[in-house]
Amino acid sequence: MSQHTAEHPAFALRRVVVTGSAGFIGSHLSHALVRGGARVVGVDRRDPGTEAVASANLAELRDRPEYVHVTADLLDCPIEPMLIDADVLFHLAGVPGVRSSWGPRFGDYLASNVLATHRVLEACARIGLPRVVVASSSSVYGSTDGAASVETDRPQPASPYAVTKLAEEQLCLAHAGKRGGPSVVALRYFTVYGPRQRSDMFIHRALQAALTGQRLRLYGDGHQRRDFTYIEDAVTATIAAGVIPTAHGPVNVGGGATASLLEVINIASSLVGRDIQLDRDLARSGDVITTRADLGRAHEALGWQPRVGLHSGMRAHMEVLASQHPSLSRAA
Ligand code: NAD
Ligand code: UGA
Repeated sequence: MSQHTAEHPAFALRRVVVTGSAGFIGSHLSHALVRGGARVVGVDRRDPGTEAVASANLAELRDRPEYVHVTADLLDCPIEPMLIDADVLFHLAGVPGVRSSWGPRFGDYLASNVLATHRVLEACARIGLPRVVVASSSSVYGSTDGAASVETDRPQPASPYAVTKLAEEQLCLAHAGKRGGPSVVALRYFTVYGPRQRSDMFIHRALQAALTGQRLRLYGDGHQRRDFTYIEDAVTATIAAGVIPTAHGPVNVGGGATASLLEVINIASSLVGRDIQLDRDLARSGDVITTRADLGRAHEALGWQPRVGLHSGMRAHMEVLASQHPSLSRAA
C-alpha cells in the first residue's frame, strides 16, 4: 500500500522540523520523511523515554540517526535553535479531540493550539524559515447540509476545539502575510485513521471492540458520516504541501468518500468475524452530522488525491492492532 517510492517528494527535503512528532499523525509523517531521505528534528512535549504512547509511536524511529527527538513544550521552550537550516516546519503539535474541548480543558487547547502556534510562527519569521505546513481540521466547517465543504465556505466551528483550530489556521495565515513571514499551507485533515490512531477515536475503538469483545459506546444514532482519511494518504498530502513551490491558505485533505459510523461498525465486525455489542449514548455537543471534503484544491495545489479506501485502510489498521496486542485476536 506504500506510496513512498524513489520519486516521493520527501527526497526534495533536506532538513525538516516536525512538531507533535510523538503523536499519531506526526510520528507517521516523521517516519515517511526519514524513509524519503530527509533529516528530521521531531519536537513533542511527550517524552518517549517515559511516556508509553509516545514511546510506541516513535518505536520505528528510535534507531534512525536521521531522526532527532527533542522533548519540549512549545509554550516555553527556545524554538529558533531547532529551526536553523530547516527547509520546512510541519506544525502538527496541538491538543486534538472535539468532545473533550468543553469544560476545564479548554485552557490547554487554547494554549497549545493558539499561543504555542504564535510562538512557533514568530520564531519562523525571525530566522526566515520559508515554509510552514500546519495541521488544521475539518471541524472548522461546523455543521453543513451534507454537501462537500469547499475551502472558500464560511467556517462555522461548532466546538471549542474547532474554534481554536480556526484561530490557529488564521493566525498562521496572518503571519504569512507579514513581511518576512513564511508561506503557509493549512491542511484541513478529515478524521484520520490507521495504525496508531489515538485511542479516543472511533475507528480505533470499533476495531478494538471487535477484537476484544468489549462493548463499544456509540454517541448518537450512528448515522453521522465522516470523510475518513487513511493515515498514509494524509502523510502524502502533508509532504506534498511541504515541497510545492508556492502556497498560501487552507487545503482539504479527505478520504474521498464518506461512511457512517454504522458502516464502520459493520466493516470492523466483518474484518474480525465478531459482532460488536453497543452501548448507546446521547449525541455529544460539538459533533457534526456529516463531514465531506471537496478535494479540487488538494488535487490542483498539491497534485494529490487519496488512494486508500475505507475497507482496505481499516483492514491494515486492524492487522497492526491485532499484531501489537497478542491478547487481541481475530475470532475467525
Ligand atoms: P496527537 O495527540 O496524537 O498528536 C499531537 C501531539 O502534539 C501530541 O504528541 C502532543 O504531546 C503534542 N503537543 C501538544 N501540545 C504541545 C505543546 N504545547 N508542545 C509540544 N508538543 C505538544 O494528535 P493527532 O491526531 O496526531 O493530531 C495531530 C494534529 O492534527 C493536531 O493539531 C490535530 O488538531 C490535527 N488534526 C487531527 C485529526 C485527526 O483525525 N487525527 C484531524 C484533523 C486535525
Ligand atoms: C476527529 C479528530 O478527533 C479531531 O481531532 C479532528 O479535528 C477531526 O477528526 C477533524 O476531522 O477535524 P471526529 O470526527 O470527532 O474528530 O472523530 P472521532 O473522534 O473518531 O469521532 C467520530 C464520531 O464517532 C463522532 O460522531 C463521535 O461522537 C463518535 N464516537 C467516538 C462514538 O460514538 N464513540 C466513541 O467512543 C468515540
